[in-house]
Amino acid sequence: MTAITCIEDLRLLAKKRVPRMFYDYADSGSWTETTYRANQSDFSPIKLRQRVAVNMENRSTASQMIGQDVAMPLAIAPVGLTGMQHADGEILAARAAEQFGIPFTLSTMSICSIEDIAAHTSKPFWFQLYMMRDRDAMARMIERARAARCSALMLTLDLQVIGQRHKDLKNGLSAPPRPTIGNLINLLTKPRWCLGMLGTRRRSFGNLVGHVKAVSDMNSLASWTHEQFDPRLSWADVQWVKERWGGKLILKGIMDVEDARLAAHSGADAIVVSNHGGRQLDGAPSSIAALPAIVAAVGDQIEVHLDGGIRSGQDLLKARALGARGCYIGRAMVYGLGAMGLAGVSRALQIIHKELDLTMAFCGHTKIDQVDKNILLPGTFPT
Ligand SMILES: Cc1cc2nc3c(=O)[nH]c(=O)nc-3n(C[C@H](O)[C@H](O)[C@H](O)COP(=O)(O)O)c2cc1C
Repeated sequence: MTAITCIEDLRLLAKKRVPRMFYDYADSGSWTETTYRANQSDFSPIKLRQRVAVNMENRSTASQMIGQDVAMPLAIAPVGLTGMQHADGEILAARAAEQFGIPFTLSTMSICSIEDIAAHTSKPFWFQLYMMRDRDAMARMIERARAARCSALMLTLDLQVIGQRHKDLKNGLSAPPRPTIGNLINLLTKPRWCLGMLGTRRRSFGNLVGHVKAVSDMNSLASWTHEQFDPRLSWADVQWVKERWGGKLILKGIMDVEDARLAAHSGADAIVVSNHGGRQLDGAPSSIAALPAIVAAVGDQIEVHLDGGIRSGQDLLKARALGARGCYIGRAMVYGLGAMGLAGVSRALQIIHKELDLTMAFCGHTKIDQVDKNILLPGTFPT
């Protein structure tokens, strides 16, 4: 545990412990992976201003996202198949988030169900929804989120058709993995993972199996998406979800100023500037590059969040300085979980928090809510 000092350490350990099919599922982007890589690398050229002789006592990273108190302006992003990175993965990640005091977002495509998370946590979590063809199933899913006391619904807008990820196709991604010779040989090298999986009954899509009309291949993410997700999704559907839900609504997958304006007009509470972690439109800009123009266009009308490429507290601080009220981590959580279960997710959150707190101090600030663009060196950040 002491040797783990950064998110990269967790990634390397997860790579050793998680079956290749699921590690690759997380550590990949669509097609050439240019957008996937840019999400991370575009943070580097943004430079912070070092300030000295400023009282750095009594620092606080506490803030709010959609009116909810957060220990730092960070939430866990919805990640499909999290329960395949580690047995009962969504439950463990939700508990780590709760212990830390930040929101956890459960994916529609999770292994553990909405009810599982509600039974194993005591604070409200957020639920992410994909628009499906079967509106009755959607309505039932919204009711289940309400019954589970979810305090926000996140509607993902950028995955009505699924981006091609070469590794998933080559690995034959499925949950649980199909017992091919190649998979069995790989699983033999992951005894810790196998033991965990033998000890749980949660091994398929917990929110869908038994709740949504069966598809031809029950185990395949690609089949679910292809057969169930509605490619006709429109802003009228967003209104339909908003009215059905009636609570806090977050729209995820906004990368364009025009779409940001439409989202602000929809009456949603927040948008997430996101390219789905570089997994959908390869060739799109990084999230951090897209953020400033969106904040300039709608930042005074709707809360703007960001995800994509956040691997450190410095990244989080830079996004915050550029106007993101809060950010999300997908892979940084996944790596912690695959490496060490609940302890690994907690470790990821501690690492990011410590980096955020110290970096804020080096920039001469003691309160995250007072940080703005002035902590960045002019000419080094996107406008
Ligand atoms: C393995 C994996 C699965 C994901 N599944 C979902 C999902 O089910 N729903 C969703 O809205 N976004 C999903 N995302 C996107 C994340 O919510 C988030 O946008 C992305 O991970 C942020 O980038 P980061 O991983 O660099 O932090 C997934 C991302 C990954 C890496």
